[in-house]
Amino acid sequence: MTTMSRVFFLCSSLVLSVIAIHKPSYIVPCHKTPDFNECAVKNAKIAIPHLLEGDRRLSVPPMNPLKLELLDLQGATNFNLSMKNIEIYGLDGLEVLKFVANFDNMSAVSVSTVPRLLILGEYTITGNLLLFSLNGHGPLNITLLNGIYEYNFDWTLEKRDGEEYAKLINTSFDYKLKDVSFDLPNIISGDKILSKAVNKILNENWEIVNEDLRESLTKSLLAIYNDIFGKIFPKIPYKELFLD
Ligand SMILES: *[C@@H]1O[C@H](CO)[C@@H](O)[C@H](O)[C@H]1NC(C)=O
Ligand SMILES: *[C@@H]1O[C@H](CO)[C@@H](O)[C@H](O)[C@H]1NC(C)=O
Ligand SMILES: *[C@@H]1O[C@H](CO)[C@@H](O)[C@H](O)[C@H]1NC(C)=O
Ligand SMILES: *[C@@H]1O[C@H](CO)[C@@H](O)[C@H](O)[C@H]1NC(C)=O
Repeated sequence: MTTMSRVFFLCSSLVLSVIAIHKPSYIVPCHKTPDFNECAVKNAKIAIPHLLEGDRRLSVPPMNPLKLELLDLQGATNFNLSMKNIEIYGLDGLEVLKFVANFDNMSAVSVSTVPRLLILGEYTITGNLLLFSLNGHGPLNITLLNGIYEYNFDWTLEKRDGEEYAKLINTSFDYKLKDVSFDLPNIISGDKILSKAVNKILNENWEIVNEDLRESLTKSLLAIYNDIFGKIFPKIPYKELFLD
């Protein structure tokens, strides 16, 4: 089985160099003490709305909506869903449920929820899904409801100009959804009635479609998280992010 996924950010190519900065004031650091995890969840609430607005100094693009140039997903059972000009709405509802950092082995887990994530864009689909042979294209609306998103990362320390920075290594991602709604008009090209029927069946069988897309979608979501954390960590000195 080959599973490939591509995800491109609209803004990621703007800033290529890593310029160190001091921590923005909305990132309130926590002490590496037993109540670190509780503090991190609390302070994430402060930081997230600011990060969602985007921060040029961190090269973090605005994320409400999050714009992606393209997102290619490959189903495990031989179909491809290629999306472009994507806008993802709903990250303003993101809530960090849990953040557990282990400073001994330098690993962390973050668990968040987003009540309603709305993915809009244009799509092309080819291949077979459930019982259908698909060849559609058109506007796309996929809604992910009550998702739980888990991001795991390990880090190592990297020294530049006498200052230590965290560097992500060995990251992974997992997610669970409560419901998904698909609206892919024209999924059977040129046949409105059949397209409507196929969408209805996709919605009724969203769990199967989700499992089919899981590996590919997981890789894409991991790439998005890696991109964001990977922009912040190399720019802000470790000792400003994590206090003794
Ligand atoms: C680090 O320690 C935690 C808690 O003991 C454990 O769950 C995690 O798997 C460890 N991670 C690594 C990379 O060793
Ligand atoms: C899906 O895309 C892959 C990679 O581009 C390609 O090899 C494969 O033939 C495509 N499958 C379908 C059903 O379009
Ligand atoms: C997308 O689908 C959701 C769920 O069906 C719906 O509430 C929403 O209005 C749709 N949005 C657009 C822009 O089509
Ligand atoms: C990567 O993470 C996994 C799971 O947490 C762990 O088992 C493994 O040892 C880690 N690998 C490296 C190179 O740190």
